[in-house]
Amino acid sequence: MAINFDEIIDRHGTYSTQWDYIEDRFGRADILPFSISDTDFSVPTGVQDAIKRRIEHPIYGYTRWNHEEYKESVCNWFEKQDNVKISKNWISYSPSVIFSVSVFIRIKSEPGDSVAVFTPMYDAFYGVIKENNRFLVPIRLGNAYSDYNVDWDSLEAVLKQKQTKILLLTNPHNPTGKVFSKEELKLISELCEKYEVFIISDDIHRDVVFDQYKYVPLTEVRKKDMVLCSSASKTFNIPGLIGSYLIQPDEQLYAAFQIELKQKNALSSVSILGMLAQV
Ligand SMILES: Cc1ncc(COP(=O)(O)O)c(C=O)c1O
Repeated sequence: MAINFDEIIDRHGTYSTQWDYIEDRFGRADILPFSISDTDFSVPTGVQDAIKRRIEHPIYGYTRWNHEEYKESVCNWFEKQDNVKISKNWISYSPSVIFSVSVFIRIKSEPGDSVAVFTPMYDAFYGVIKENNRFLVPIRLGNAYSDYNVDWDSLEAVLKQKQTKILLLTNPHNPTGKVFSKEELKLISELCEKYEVFIISDDIHRDVVFDQYKYVPLTEVRKKDMVLCSSASKTFNIPGLIGSYLIQPDEQLYAAFQIELKQKNALSSVSILGMLAQV
């Protein structure tokens, strides 16, 4: 069934971070809160139905993500939407994209190292880099009239610095909406390879792309020294159900992430509703 995007749904009284805590967050109640990226559109009815069916079962026990349906849901989405083949063996659950980013910052760099980012930038990255005791190195994107182009000389100058260990990419980029082309991704990847810089690609907005652009996942140009972190949460407006996934083609890094997820943080039991919503 099609979604009616003109329907106004009152979210007050649902503990909504966006609508119920305006005064708490901004110090005054008479403003419109456009600072959180969830939307006021209802989620697809197929998702609602799957959740309702599961709620009917009266036991909500520990639940596994590591099964065919979960991993295939990601592979199928990339194949159907982007004509891109992803192996099931590369897929892992993660509780959130920011958790994945934080873990890979710790796995692939040491305190005191630098993480390069294209600015302007999604605000949560400032905290995740700083609180992991890494330095943030900004690379300014061009302006809107230049399609937010990459300044290749600045990028190379930053990647060249020996303390730069990670490039944290957002594709599509938040907040500009820039979608990196395959050619741009190739050039970025070549420079990162030259200077041995790991790439974390946050592709959470992968489905929010204007018609004339095409989203290309980083795996199309690089399968080594990278991780792609994403989630169904933005596309289907389900961040409150909790859950995200990552694509990690390198077996050793995949195993390292599983240790973080299961042993170090005991976070591998998935939210039942989040998992079903994604599938
Ligand atoms: C670029 C980007 N990454 C990550 C997130 C948050 O993802 P998660 O809630 O899965 O940590 C957001 C949310 O706005 C975002 O815009």
